[in-house]
Amino acid sequence: MFMEFVAMLHTVASFAISLASTIFLSAPGYAEPGPSMTDPAAIAAGQIRFNRNCGYCHGNACAGGKGAPLQGRDDLTADYLFKTITEGKKQGSLQMLAWRDAFTDKEVQELSAYILSLRFVNLKR
Ligand code: HEC
Repeated sequence: MFMEFVAMLHTVASFAISLASTIFLSAPGYAEPGPSMTDPAAIAAGQIRFNRNCGYCHGNACAGGKGAPLQGRDDLTADYLFKTITEGKKQGSLQMLAWRDAFTDKEVQELSAYILSLRFVNLKR
C-alpha cells in the first residue's frame, strides 16, 4: 500500500515536471527571455560579434555592402531580426545562410540589440 502511494506520487511528480517544462521551454520565438534591446552591455557584446561575423557583408557599422544596410532602418523589429539571423534570408541571387548553429539565442538577441541601436544612424547619407 505504501509503495503504491510512493509510485503514484512519483507519477504525479513526473507529470507535473514534464508539463512545466513543456510550458516554459517550448514557448514560440525565444527559447528563453533575452536581454533588453536597450541594454548597453548587450549592445556592446552584439557590436563585437557583428564586427567579427557580419561586417564583411553588411559593412562597417551596418552601412551595407554585399548584404543589406542594417543601420537607419526603423522597419526592423527584434522579432524580425531574431528570425532572419537564425533562419537566414534569400533575396534574388543573394543569400545569407542561417546562423542558427553558430550562435546561442542570447548571442542573436545581442546582435539584434546592436542593430536596433543603429536605428537612427545613417552614415551613408
Ligand atoms: C556572406 C555575406 C553575409 C554575412 C557574413 C552576413 N550576412 Fe546578413 N545578409 C546577407 C544577404 C545576401 C542578405 C539578404 C539580402 C538582403 O536582405 O539584402 C542578408 C540579410 C540580412 C538581414 C535581413 C535584412 C533585411 O533587410 O531584411 C539581417 C537582419 C542580417 N542579414 C543580419 C546579419 C547578421 C547579424 C550577420 C552576422 C551574424 C550577417 N547578417 C552576416 C549577407 C550576409
